Amino acid sequence: MPVPTKQKALLIPVKQGEFTIAERSVPSPESDELLVRNEAAALNPIDWKIHAYSFFVEKYPAVLGSEGAGIVEAVGDSVTGYKPGDRVVYEGFRSDDYNHTTFQQYTTIKADFATKVPDSFTFDQIVTIPATYFTAALGLYHITDGPRFTPPWIEGGRGKYTGTPIVVIGGASAVGSYVIQLAKLSGLSPIIATASLKNKSLLESYGATHVLDRNLSATALREEVLKITGAPVELVFDAISLAETQNAGFDLLAPGGKLIIVLFPAVDEDKTKSGDRTIAGVSSFVNLPQNYAFAKTAFAELPGLVERGDIKPLRFEVLPGGLAGIPAGLDKLKNNQLFEVA
Ligand SMILES: NC(=O)c1ccc[n+]([C@@H]2O[C@H](COP(=O)([O-])OP(=O)(O)OC[C@H]3O[C@@H](n4cnc5c(N)ncnc54)[C@H](OP(=O)(O)O)[C@@H]3O)[C@@H](O)[C@H]2O)c1
Repeated sequence: MPVPTKQKALLIPVKQGEFTIAERSVPSPESDELLVRNEAAALNPIDWKIHAYSFFVEKYPAVLGSEGAGIVEAVGDSVTGYKPGDRVVYEGFRSDDYNHTTFQQYTTIKADFATKVPDSFTFDQIVTIPATYFTAALGLYHITDGPRFTPPWIEGGRGKYTGTPIVVIGGASAVGSYVIQLAKLSGLSPIIATASLKNKSLLESYGATHVLDRNLSATALREEVLKITGAPVELVFDAISLAETQNAGFDLLAPGGKLIIVLFPAVDEDKTKSGDRTIAGVSSFVNLPQNYAFAKTAFAELPGLVERGDIKPLRFEVLPGGLAGIPAGLDKLKNNQLFEVA
C-alpha cells in the first residue's frame, strides 16, 4: 500500500493550549532515516511537564512523544540493515519540524536511534524500553562526571563491579527499574532501592537485593543503608531527583562519591560547597552530539539483551482511544495514578 501524504497527529496548537488532533503531512525519510508507521507510543513525565510549563519547546503547533514502535514503511538511501515491513522500536526527539516525535501516525527517525523488535515481543511491551533505559545506561556508563563503568555489552563489563554497592532512589520508576536491571548485569552489589513496598517483589525480580520504603525520612534511610553496607556508598542514582530525594541521596555518599540525577540539581548549597562529592546530571536526548555514538551502540545491543531476558520490558497499561487517549494518560502520570488498577 502506498504511504499516505497526510496523517493524524496530537498537537499542542499554541503555548499551553489544549491537546488537539489535527492533520499533518507525512514526512519523507532523509538518507540516514527510517519512516516508521507507529503502532505504539509510550508516555513520559516530560510530556506533561513540557505541556504544563512550556520548556524545551518554542515552536507551535508542537508534537510531543519520545518513544515509538512500529513498522518500517520506507528507508533512506544510505540506510543498511532495514527494509519496509521490519518491526522496530526507537527513541525519538524534538526538532523544529516535529518529524521525529511520536504522538503521530508516522515518524522519521535516524536508523541509529532504532533497533529491531525481537519476534516474541509486542510493540506495547517493547515501547516501554527506549528513553528510560537509555537514561539509566547514560548515567551508569557514559556521562562525563558519572562512574563511567564499562557497559555489560563490552567484553569484561558483565559482572565486573561485584561488591560495589549502589543505592537507587525511585526503583519502581521506569528509569529506576532499568538502573536496577543494568546494575545487576554490571555485577554491582548490594543493589538497594527505595520504592513503595508493594513494589518490593517486582524490584527484586529486576535484581534489587534490598528494597527500602520510599517514605523513610532521610535520616532513617541513611541508617537502613548503613545497616546493609556498613559504610557510606560511592554511588547513588536518584531516578526521581526532587529536592528531597537529591538531598537524601547526597547524604548517603562517602567522600569522593557520586550522585546521579535526572532533573536539575537541587542539593542544598551548604552540603555541596566542600566539593567532596560529585553531582552528575543525565540528559538523555539521543540527538545530543555527546550522546550520539553511545546511543548507536546501546540501541544496537538492545535486541540481544532483551531476547536473553537480561533486560526486561516494564509493566504497562494500554490506554484506550489511540492518540485521543494520550491527554488523559498524561494526567494520570502527572497525578501519580499509575497502575491503580493493579
Ligand atoms: N534527564 C533525563 O534525560 C530524563 C529522562 C527520562 C526521565 N527523566 C525524569 O526522570 C523522572 C522519572 O521518570 P520515569 O519515567 O522513570 O518516572 P515514572 O516511571 O513515571 O515514575 C513513577 C514512580 O516513581 C516512584 N516515585 C515517585 N516519587 C518517589 C519518591 N519520592 N521516592 C521514590 N520513588 C518515587 C513511584 O514509585 P512507587 O510506586 O514505588 O511509589 C512511581 O510509581 C521524571 O522526573 C522524568 O521527567 C529524565
